[in-house]
Amino acid sequence: MKKRIYLDFAATTPVLPEVVKTMEKVLLDDYGNPSSLHEEGRLAKAHVQKGRETIAKAIGAETDEIFFTSGGTEANFLGLTGLARALKRRGNHLITSVIEHSSILGCFQGLESEGFEVTYLPVTAKGILDPEQFKNSIRKETILASFMMANNEIGTIQPLEDLVKTAQSNQIIFHTDAIQAFPHLPLNVKTLGVDAATLSAHKIYGPKGIGALYLKRGTPYKPVFKGGEQERKIRPGTENVAGIVGFAKATEILQNERNKESKRLERLRDRLIHDLCGTIEDCSLNGDPLTRLPNNVNLTFKGVDGESILIHLDLEGIACSMGSACSAGALEPSHVLIALGRTPQEAKSSIRFTLGKYTSEEELEAVKKVIPPFVEQLRSVRLK
Ligand SMILES: Cc1ncc(COP(=O)(O)O)c(C=O)c1O
Repeated sequence: MKKRIYLDFAATTPVLPEVVKTMEKVLLDDYGNPSSLHEEGRLAKAHVQKGRETIAKAIGAETDEIFFTSGGTEANFLGLTGLARALKRRGNHLITSVIEHSSILGCFQGLESEGFEVTYLPVTAKGILDPEQFKNSIRKETILASFMMANNEIGTIQPLEDLVKTAQSNQIIFHTDAIQAFPHLPLNVKTLGVDAATLSAHKIYGPKGIGALYLKRGTPYKPVFKGGEQERKIRPGTENVAGIVGFAKATEILQNERNKESKRLERLRDRLIHDLCGTIEDCSLNGDPLTRLPNNVNLTFKGVDGESILIHLDLEGIACSMGSACSAGALEPSHVLIALGRTPQEAKSSIRFTLGKYTSEEELEAVKKVIPPFVEQLRSVRLK
């Protein structure tokens, strides 16, 4: 069977063998419940604590500022909902952007139904937030802002330093969804100055179903869940010990390799963009060409149905996507591409390739051979 080419690393990543090994030991041998008082329980608790230390160290946080969750979506939900509810006495205005992940936008919609008012900031045609617009949208009732560090569909990196400074000088609590940025960019929550941040293990070659919420010490927070004492009541429920151990191992490996790997991916990314846009007529890049994640290539093939390209590439053994995995399969055009000013038709003619650890030059050469004739073929069918 022909080896498949996986170019959907922003959707998820394969779990590293070293990560599987550490998880296997926990699943088979160190299976205790961290809340149990016996030796098995104490051992499991030590695993959770060590994992917490690893994640905290990786992002410059204190150990007790990390709360494990069942993934990025839950971390975003618990973070935003718990913060907004705790801050409600101070005001009811929240600010975010139109290009956030559905897990953030869904949260804000929920908060709107609780009586909060939300401002959704637009982005430039290149997919970047304007810090001036953030400044201008602040009211005296503004309590909380949430902006992603990098976008999952177009990979654009946001001017977080400026946004955080503005939030700080207006006493606004700042949350960032760092889930797509963390695999490629160093993150130090203290130097950046954010009050809350979210991470997800399956974007960094760790397991699915485990994530983390960073909450700065002393930040007002009202627990959302009712239940046990785990994660200091912020996320009750028996801890996913194997997931935590795997998340920590993946983080350690990431910290060692990120700089070098990001540079390698950047070169591959730029060549893929250059070669595809250079050979295919009416093929253009979505999002800023420079201020973007090193692994993201999001292209619009004008006049061609993106789904047809995706299916054809899948049959050819190439896996890519039409945007975020969460909205893949949905008929709606990407809200991110629409925010850039793309028409619904153009948005539906767009494909996201996200490169990763196993992406090689040879693989991308193969991709570059397959796409141009297929796009041409689809266009000629349309013209007949
Ligand atoms: C930017 C962003 N936020 C949140 C999530 C959700 O994370 P999880 O899949 O761990 O729930 C994703 C996953 O695609 C993402 O890309």
